[in-house]
Amino acid sequence: MVSIRTATPDDAKTLVDLILELAAFEQLMDRAEPSVELLEQHLAEEALTGCEALLAETERGTAVGFALFFHNYSTFQTNVGLHLEDLFVKPTYRGEGIGGALVRRVARIAEERGCRRIDLAVLDWNDEAIAFYDALGAEPLDDWTTLRLDEDAIEEAATAAPPAAA
Ligand code: ACO
Repeated sequence: MVSIRTATPDDAKTLVDLILELAAFEQLMDRAEPSVELLEQHLAEEALTGCEALLAETERGTAVGFALFFHNYSTFQTNVGLHLEDLFVKPTYRGEGIGGALVRRVARIAEERGCRRIDLAVLDWNDEAIAFYDALGAEPLDDWTTLRLDEDAIEEAATAAPPAAA
């Protein structure tokens, strides 16, 4: 039996361990540097990041999966949405409905908060996750390209920013 609960700042270390397992699976260890201290701060209710997480645990309290999400905003809908940043289930617990239960719980939260969409990104080689989300009714956004300004690009753009109006 696995149950799902809202993660608290005290779960930051457990979540970071799972995040590192996900990073290894996604072959992105070179880009993953999660900090227990920062996540602890960000999971606190007063944190500005709005980062929230769900933990899936066995009856013995072993964490076997998580979902981490935060709110985004649609100008076209002038409404809040949810961005599902990460979803992970430990390999030996896959195929038992835990990932589906985590996403359904996120969907329940989205519905309760009046969100009209949940956005997420999957690496293009991750056919299993794409099939998993397809089974849950997710549609690919083929006409969009995902872009990012990294830390260096932010610094460069910020340096050239015009002064803010008083
Ligand atoms: N192919 C087709 N359908 C699948 C597959 C698959 N490989 N895996 C699951 N499904 C379907 C199942 O049929 C199931 O449908 P059902 O509920 O009608 O039976 C449904 O998806 C849910 O399956 P679960 O057992 O709930 O999924 P699981 O617990 O195995 O978790 C997950 C799925 C999270 C993708 C898991 O495989 C995992 O952790 N993978 C590695 C990490 C990963 O890829 N995470 C997603 C990255 S993208 C992001 O985080 C936004």
